[in-house]
Amino acid sequence: MIKADIGSIGGHVRTCDVTTDVVCKLVAEAKESGLIIDYRVWNAGDDTEIFTTHTRGIDNEEIHKLAFDALKAGADNARERGLYGAGQDLLKDAFSGNVRGMGPGVAEMEFEERPADPVVVFTADKTAPGAFNYPICRIFADPFNTAGLVIDPKLHNGFIFDIYDIKGNQMVTLKTPEEYYDMLALIGSTENYVIKRVFSKNKQLGQAAAISTEKLYAVAGKYIGKDDPAAVVRAQSGFPATGEVLEGFALGHLVTGWMRGSHNGPLMPVPLRYSQCTRFDGPPRITGLAFSMKKGKLTEPIDVFDDPAWDITREQCMRVADYLRRHGPFEPHRLPPDAMEYTTLPNVLKKLKSRFKPL
Ligand code: 13P
Ligand code: 13P
Ligand code: MG
Ligand code: MG
Repeated sequence: MIKADIGSIGGHVRTCDVTTDVVCKLVAEAKESGLIIDYRVWNAGDDTEIFTTHTRGIDNEEIHKLAFDALKAGADNARERGLYGAGQDLLKDAFSGNVRGMGPGVAEMEFEERPADPVVVFTADKTAPGAFNYPICRIFADPFNTAGLVIDPKLHNGFIFDIYDIKGNQMVTLKTPEEYYDMLALIGSTENYVIKRVFSKNKQLGQAAAISTEKLYAVAGKYIGKDDPAAVVRAQSGFPATGEVLEGFALGHLVTGWMRGSHNGPLMPVPLRYSQCTRFDGPPRITGLAFSMKKGKLTEPIDVFDDPAWDITREQCMRVADYLRRHGPFEPHRLPPDAMEYTTLPNVLKKLKSRFKPL
């Protein structure tokens, strides 16, 4: 899964089909040439998402170049047609072996395919990588979310989590259930610690989930856009059931992002057709596509939040969104100062600096 905001219609609202087709065409050619086995290109709000299956492993130069070239061609098209924020997330022009550190978000994993391998791909808009901490933790570590942790012997031993300290540029591996409380001590701070990978304790099953953790401001040194993340999660037969995976999103939990990447708001699960951010450029959204695959070949996707079963979550999200909105520029709707450091706020505060007198 490699994704970037390469431009959108009418502000940061939604990608444009014409631009997406340009991206899609290049990825389709890579399938024809045999570089990748299969693919799907779609959007979450204003972000273009490229999902591919292949046998070249993670961090493969040719695969990364394909994604970069396709996104770049899309960005050129977006620029020509005056889309907003064209090429927003492509922070560097020349490809140098890997898209990591160039702007796009990356969530890759390598595994031995099971006889049936259901995969759910989540793509979020108007939020940040830490948005996945809460659902991924509930899915893989919380027995009140995932019944299989209690009743399925294949899940009962728990899972292994790679957690990135994104500001300290280091990582730690923790196991649940034995280190569950330690893990929560870290990942509750969603701006500092993010879950990057989850593994089964059964080595044969291997990796269960991968989450994109790229931080745009870390590359650009200033606010460009939010680092709208993506996650790939494997389900069933040794992993949580698909319904247990989706259950992690039933709260509509609060995440950072939303307007100007500067506000807290609820993460609303929506079908792809509602993946356009309009109310105060939001609220933050999560979309999900479930696939089955065989030898890397993908079935048609199921748009997992396209179900009235999620109406109650969506309604709750909009009540919370409406309530938070009435706080206007006040915390905790607006993010605290350290999170605002990379936004445009410091430029406003600069002006007042000379006016301050000691107390
Ligand atoms: P089925 O009986 O429909 O296969 O469902 C099994 C299951 O585990 C659902 O979570
Ligand atoms: P994106 O990060 O989705 O481009 O949104 C940026 C923004 O400023 C929204 O208000
Ligand atoms: Mg944008
Ligand atoms: Mg976006």
